[in-house]
Amino acid sequence: MNAVETEDLRKSFGPVTAVDGVSLSIPEGGIFGFLGPNGAGKTTTIRMMTGVLIPDSGSARIFGNDVHSDPLAAKLKMGVIPENGTVYSDLTAEENILITGKFYGMDKELREKRAGEILEWLGLTERRNDLVRMFSKGMRQRISIACAIVHSPPLLILDEPTTGLDVYSRRLVIDTIRRMNSEGSTILLTTHNIEEANMLCSDIGIINKGRIVATGSPEKLKKTFDTSRYVEVSFNKTVAESYFAATGITRAEQWGDKWRIYSDDPDLAVKHVASMAEREHLSIISIATSNPTLEEAFVKLTEEA
Ligand SMILES: Nc1ncnc2c1ncn2[C@@H]1O[C@H](COP(=O)(O)OP(=O)(O)OP(=O)(O)O)[C@@H](O)[C@H]1O
Ligand SMILES: [Mg+2]
Repeated sequence: MNAVETEDLRKSFGPVTAVDGVSLSIPEGGIFGFLGPNGAGKTTTIRMMTGVLIPDSGSARIFGNDVHSDPLAAKLKMGVIPENGTVYSDLTAEENILITGKFYGMDKELREKRAGEILEWLGLTERRNDLVRMFSKGMRQRISIACAIVHSPPLLILDEPTTGLDVYSRRLVIDTIRRMNSEGSTILLTTHNIEEANMLCSDIGIINKGRIVATGSPEKLKKTFDTSRYVEVSFNKTVAESYFAATGITRAEQWGDKWRIYSDDPDLAVKHVASMAEREHLSIISIATSNPTLEEAFVKLTEEA
């Protein structure tokens, strides 16, 4: 079953078309990354999926429950961390989690057990009895996440969960997302950190100007733009460009003390460099193959036409 399914979602704000026909199917079990430049329509799409905003047209279903016609059933299946998460400032860290658990109908014993566990995951055990009013932005963000996961939702939706966090908080949040996923939650998150999406997500959807421009695994998206592959190599002696001439090698360029050997087939390029070095009695000091990056794919998909 699909955790999320949207059909032709559309939303305009006055003259601005924020979401222009988004149809997405997010299968159960994975970590789906929703990427796009500022203003692309990510938050607006998520607000329609979560029932906060009514679409102009189109529909959204969470595990088969229509968000508009059956909002309660849909909402019980998800935990949501909105772009600007809200927490109760006059309650302590732990009280925030406990009260949220109560909203979801969890019994006292389970709420308390779960709150202790989550505070630990998110590095907040020592601050559990402090009022959230005193918390820093990163700590508030972690409380917002804690509240969204207290009821172990089958679907966890996070809008930029790591923006503005330091490297330690970011790791705690990423570990928590991974843990929730391994415990069975499907994850949908937005991020501007492409490297993060690359290492975390099983699937990615890229949105630009309100439209989905690509979906697929990070590796698939990278391969789509796999145009400039090269082998970078350095030797113990100076070599001439002519040494690299061979069928299948597009060109060779000197880069500082290294050479970049361009080829559509990195396997062939590496083998050629190795046999050439053998023949010319050269030692290879370093050798590496370039990999296309998800960032390249992202930029190509979202740059101005
Ligand atoms: N409540 C609103 N009223 C008017 N315009 C809005 C509203 N919400 C969003 N928009 C517009 O809709 C477009 C998409 O905004 P949205 O917040 O969905 O983008 P986003 O992809 O989440 O961007 P970011 O990466 O900056 O968070 C923008 O042009 C924005 O100005
Ligand atoms: Mg946003």
